[in-house]
Amino acid sequence: MKHELLPVTASCSGGRLAIAGHDLGALAREFATPLYVYDGETVRQDLAALRQALAAAYPGPTEITYAAKAYFAPRFASKLAALGLGVDVVSLGELRVAQRAGFSPEKIHLHGNNKSAAELRAALELNLQAIVVDSLDELMFLESLARERQHEGSPRPESCPKIWLRITPGLTVDTHAYRQTGHHTTKFGIPIADGQAAEAIRYARNSPHLNLVGLHTHLGSQVYEAGPYVEALQMLYALARAENFTPLELSPGGGWYVRYTSDAPDIPLNTWVQSVAAAVQAECDRSGIPLPRLVLEPGRWLAARAGVALYTVGTCKNSGDGTRWVAVDGGMADNLRPALYGARYTAIVPERMEDPATERVNLVGKFCESGDFLIENTYLPPVARGDLLALPASGAYHLSMASNYNLAERPAALWLEEGEIEVLQPHEDILSAAWWNS
Ligand code: LLP
Repeated sequence: MKHELLPVTASCSGGRLAIAGHDLGALAREFATPLYVYDGETVRQDLAALRQALAAAYPGPTEITYAAKAYFAPRFASKLAALGLGVDVVSLGELRVAQRAGFSPEKIHLHGNNKSAAELRAALELNLQAIVVDSLDELMFLESLARERQHEGSPRPESCPKIWLRITPGLTVDTHAYRQTGHHTTKFGIPIADGQAAEAIRYARNSPHLNLVGLHTHLGSQVYEAGPYVEALQMLYALARAENFTPLELSPGGGWYVRYTSDAPDIPLNTWVQSVAAAVQAECDRSGIPLPRLVLEPGRWLAARAGVALYTVGTCKNSGDGTRWVAVDGGMADNLRPALYGARYTAIVPERMEDPATERVNLVGKFCESGDFLIENTYLPPVARGDLLALPASGAYHLSMASNYNLAERPAALWLEEGEIEVLQPHEDILSAAWWNS
């Protein structure tokens, strides 16, 4: 049994798996599969652990902002807002959902490598906690939009939009290439190496229309080493010192690693939190400046383990070479991660948890692509049509990246509490979707 990958409320009785006291087989029958379930208690406990670790490691002010891209259905967003989190949004859609969910503007910051005029204008109008500027080009574009607004209204300095600069240190972290964002050749951020970052700091500080309050960097996602975060922070402070700039806010982004399989290393959260906190303190000591507000931006770390995907087995067959294929009723339309990054998962049979995994199979979806794997080459207990399968650690970057490929309907998602089930998103009805009827 792989309990360490499951939500904290997972329990097993008579071989049947339950989450928050809800039998997964019963949920699958009631709500149909594919189905995603989120455990409220896991989200709360993981957040509490992160808050505690941060408070113990860092004496200055802090903020935890959830990276909405990991999963942000409106009702899920409301739960997070009620927990007092901030949120990092990257689109007008995420911004509008954040607002509706109850995040106040000073809890929201806007990211994006190519923010539209509409996104920037909305951020200016709401006076967000920060707009994270991603390039010199955007810095000038944003300044022109801010200038326009200030001509209409009052030009007081405190009315200037607060900005951070997203700095690219030129560091390559050990993760899939598509998840690296801090290296020299990335599309994200303002590079230090050729002087653009220094120029951006000077430009922003001299602008009467912008208020530069912070620096940010994000090296990538599913990163298991703390070393590159420390190195990046040292580079950010070296840059700030050279420009005689004191950041009031500082963010090393998110990206901390989550386990998807039992054989993956279990790296304590503190490895990351303590390293980041210590690096910022050491750099501030060295510069003789006050500690900034330290803003962490976890997405996966808060959402992945809380979520479990449920599928029903359909066709099982052998190909000519003897390979065993087990196909389920979802796949790459609700979980693109194996196809996009070669991501590995663990499958369990939630109604027969005691059965040993003796059969070697390719677990695949139902979509018309040979790359539609959920798990290539894994071991399962022998399964047949109608059996239920569960994939732990499915809460982040599944439904938020889901598509209607083959005109599949996006699955329902539930929020589970002891004795309570709330529908976060209903099973999509594609024939009633607005675009279909237009
Ligand atoms: N901050 C920024 C600026 C980001 O771009 C991201 C993720 C995060 C924070 C949160 O990273 P996390 O803590 O969730 O790793 N679809 C990929 C992950 C893409 C991450 C994009 N940016 C995957 O499924 O692995």
